Amino acid sequence: MNAMAHALPTMAPALDVSTLTQFVDPLPIPEIAQRQGYRPSPTDRKLSVPFYRIQAQPIASKVHRDLPPTRFWSFGSSTPGPTFETRSGESLLVEWVNALPSEHFLPMDHTIHGAEADKPAVRTVVHLHGAKTGPESDGYPEDWMVPGKSSLYYYPNQQDAAMLWYHDHALGINRLNVYAGLLGAFFIRDGVEEALNLPKGKCELPLILYDRLLTRDGQLLYPVSPDPQAPWVPEIFGNAILVNGKLFPYLDVEPRRYRFRVLNASNARFYNLSLASDVPFHQIGTDQGLLPTPVPLTSLEIAPGERADLVVDFSEHLGAQLVLKNDAFIVMQFRVSAKKVTETSSLPPALRPVLRIPESRAVQTRLLTLDEYVNKAGNPVMLLLNASHWKMPATEKPVLGSTEIWTLINPTNDSHPIHLHLVRFQILDRQPYEPWLFQTKRELHFLGPPELPDPNEAGWKDTVRAHSKMVTRIIVPFEGFAGRYVWHCHILEHEDNEMMRPYEVIAAV
Ligand code: C2O
Ligand code: CU
Ligand code: CU
Repeated sequence: MNAMAHALPTMAPALDVSTLTQFVDPLPIPEIAQRQGYRPSPTDRKLSVPFYRIQAQPIASKVHRDLPPTRFWSFGSSTPGPTFETRSGESLLVEWVNALPSEHFLPMDHTIHGAEADKPAVRTVVHLHGAKTGPESDGYPEDWMVPGKSSLYYYPNQQDAAMLWYHDHALGINRLNVYAGLLGAFFIRDGVEEALNLPKGKCELPLILYDRLLTRDGQLLYPVSPDPQAPWVPEIFGNAILVNGKLFPYLDVEPRRYRFRVLNASNARFYNLSLASDVPFHQIGTDQGLLPTPVPLTSLEIAPGERADLVVDFSEHLGAQLVLKNDAFIVMQFRVSAKKVTETSSLPPALRPVLRIPESRAVQTRLLTLDEYVNKAGNPVMLLLNASHWKMPATEKPVLGSTEIWTLINPTNDSHPIHLHLVRFQILDRQPYEPWLFQTKRELHFLGPPELPDPNEAGWKDTVRAHSKMVTRIIVPFEGFAGRYVWHCHILEHEDNEMMRPYEVIAAV
């Protein structure tokens, strides 16, 4: 089928969000996932582990008081889906169920690899982003299931406390399924984190941010480019920024410290978040857990896939109304009560040590390019990693237990958030280079000194911003499991077309 035929419903007029009254809806907090009992552990049948059953299904949900309900697909009865709460070392099982209808409600682009017209329109597979999970439970993009099917996934959770998130990962339609609402948060806790006495309970909240393009009647639009050779849009930017599924929500807070677990779950939008009027805050953790020390900030840059663990102290703002902004745009409001309270939480000066991995530990350095291809009209038709298609055999085959340096070379005009499944890594540096020399002679000619990662990136990461015209180096210990995984750009439009590659962890002999 011609992609343009599907484009028609997306011609509906877009909502002018400036016509909506701000701060009329309280910030929703996704419910905590409830286990359905216990099941034998797949690694030791004598043990039983908590069992959850989560269903991907269509729902209607109001994103704003004055808009009709929006059609979404969600895990469970809300989007974001239920939040998992678990502890390091405590494994669990999830049966992910596809209870979606047989037709997609967003426009399919059959020119995209993996989404050809002979593939079922509705497919889903769930990946737990940031988890050290066996390959059979990692949500390999080709392991999708059709409506009526389910998959039982095992999560060992043998890793440090962190905010992970689960989301759809189906080949060729990942961007549509996540956009439809198939995502949720997953927290791992541990004793190191608990000993710090950070804000908790009602003072610790997820802030899951994603933008959506809404029609005047509040429905999701997913645009299709008018270029028939490239109906795919290379990035989608919405007119509405939702927080936990609401547009312009407000949150009543007490004048004390709060811990906000921020996730950028957008398809393509990078955020530059700040509190009006530059109220300072601290970042205490990144993708894979706590930073060594709190980092004072007045603004936070966060790319798709990344997480930031923030502590905001409202104690000096009795009775004030503070807005959270993305650049100049208002995202949400904090209403600080005027009644003084006693602070019971702390913000310790030292959090969790992160030992820097010496470069000498790396047994291999891989030069990997991020490539963009444009057609005659100048529209991007495809993006690749290392000039390789998804279907080509895996070329990155690290040995289990070894450490490698991955050198990401970005000649494109975009910053790409590059994510590796299974592992956590550290950012070594970023360095400007001369793209033309590399393209023609494969010579790396640097145009400036290497720049160390920002202090709030100097922890364990699983997603790194590889900036335009820069070489970004990460050092990666491959630990946990052997098997087939993926690495990709977390701009979901890029990932689908086809900025994603398999990689294989080889068992040590
Ligand atoms: Cu958050 Cu492979 O993804
Ligand atoms: Cu992942
Ligand atoms: Cu990208």
